[in-house]
Amino acid sequence: MTQFDPSIHASRRQRFLDQLGAAAAVIPAAALATHHADCEWPFRQDSDFFYLTGFDEPDAVALLLPHRPEGERFVLFVHPKDPAAEVWTGFRWGTEGAVERYGADIAHPLDQLSALLPGYLVGAEAIAFRVGRHPVVEPLVLSAWGRQLDSYARAGVAALGLVAPTPILHRLRLVKEGHELQRLREACRISAEAHELARSITEPGMNEAEVQAAIEAHFRAAGARGPAYGSIVAGGDNACVLHYTANTAQLQDGDLLLIDAGCSVDDYYNGDITRTFPVNGRFSAEQRELYGVVLASQEAAVEAVRPGGNAEQVHDTALRVLVEGLVDLGLLLGDVDGLIEQGAYRHLYMHRTGHWLGLDVHDVGAYRLGEQPATLQPGMVLTVEPGLYVSDRLAVPEGQPEIDDRWKGIGIRIEDDVAVTESGHEVLTAAAQKSLAAMERH
Ligand code: GLY
Ligand code: MN
Ligand code: MN
Repeated sequence: MTQFDPSIHASRRQRFLDQLGAAAAVIPAAALATHHADCEWPFRQDSDFFYLTGFDEPDAVALLLPHRPEGERFVLFVHPKDPAAEVWTGFRWGTEGAVERYGADIAHPLDQLSALLPGYLVGAEAIAFRVGRHPVVEPLVLSAWGRQLDSYARAGVAALGLVAPTPILHRLRLVKEGHELQRLREACRISAEAHELARSITEPGMNEAEVQAAIEAHFRAAGARGPAYGSIVAGGDNACVLHYTANTAQLQDGDLLLIDAGCSVDDYYNGDITRTFPVNGRFSAEQRELYGVVLASQEAAVEAVRPGGNAEQVHDTALRVLVEGLVDLGLLLGDVDGLIEQGAYRHLYMHRTGHWLGLDVHDVGAYRLGEQPATLQPGMVLTVEPGLYVSDRLAVPEGQPEIDDRWKGIGIRIEDDVAVTESGHEVLTAAAQKSLAAMERH
C-alpha cells in the first residue's frame, strides 16, 4: 500500500492549470460498470481523474478553474456522506473529506452539479471537456456551454470554444515523476515475482487455469488490486492467439507456455510482463531456435531505449533481428531489407513492439507528432515485447516458404517494462528472468 500524499496531486493540478490558459476544465471520475443484472465490477477509477485528484470514488467531478481567484480553482463534486448508503457500499469521504484530505478548495454534493456547473464556468474563455466518454456529465457540460452561447449577445463574453483537455493531460502523464516510477517499480516487482512463481510450479498435465490462479493469488497476497488486464496463460498453439484469455486448456508435455500477466497496484500503476518457457522444463530444438531469436530481438530493442531515441527505432531494431533470425532458420526467404519493406514477415510477427505504460496499461501519450515520432525522454516508460507466432492461421505470403509442421504451435513473446533514464534505460521488470538457461529446469 502506498501512503496517500495530496501534494503529488496538487502539483499536477498546478501544472495542468498553468497550461490550460483561460479554459475551465471539467474532469469526471469513472462510474461503476455493470457486470450483469444489478451486479457491478470492482470499481476502477478514471486515470485522468485519478492523476489529478487521487480521489478513488465513483461519479465525482473535478473542476479546474484557472479563471477563478486562488482558493477557488479546484472544485470537487462528490457523493455526500450518507450512513444508510455506506452500510451497503462502504465508506465515503464526503464533501468534508474532499476538502480536508483531497485538497479541494470547495466541495459540493453531486446532486448540485447541474445547478452549480453553469455558474462555475462563467468567465472562462473555453471549456475543456473530453466529449464522447462521460455520458452522464456530457449533457450538463453541453447545456452549460449552450447557455453561455445564448447569453453572448447580451453579455459580450462567453466560453466560446469546447476544447479537449486530454492533449495537455496526456503530455503530463507521458513523462513519469519520481513517485510514479517508484509505483511502477512496485507493480513490476510483484508482477515479476508472479512470473517466477508460475515457472516454478508449471508441469505437464496442469491446467492453464491453475497457473493463472497462482499468478493472480500472488498479486492479491502481495497487496496489488489484482491483474492489470486479462491474464494470458497460453499453452502451445494457444500462444498464437494474441489475446487468448480463456486459460482453460491442459498443459502438454513438449509445449511452450506463454504467460502475459501483470498486476495493478492500489494507486493503479501497472506491470505488463510476458515470459515463455517449456512446460516440461526443456526446449525442443525448434523451440530453442525461435526462443533465441526472440530473446536476441528483445535484448537489442531494450538497448535501443535511450533519451533522444524513439519507439519506432525500438520497433525497427526488434523487427530487424527477428527477420534476420527467420531468414537464418529458413522460415523466410529473401534479403532482410526487402522482407521488412514488403511486410513479408507479418504471418509470423503481426503486432508492434510496445506501448507506453503507466496508470493505463496501454498508457496515454502521443506516439507521433505529425510526421515525427515522439522523442524518448527520461521518465517515459514503455514496454518492449517482440514475439514470433507460428501457426496455420495466416496465409504464407507469396514467394515465402511453406512452414514445416515441426515449427507449428510455437508462440513466443518476451515483454519487459522499460523506463527511459538520463543515461539510457532501466528495465523495471529485470527480476523476471528470461535467459534461455533460466527458462529450463536442470
Ligand atoms: N498485455 C497487454 C499487452 O502486452 O499489451
Ligand atoms: Mn503484455
Ligand atoms: Mn504490453
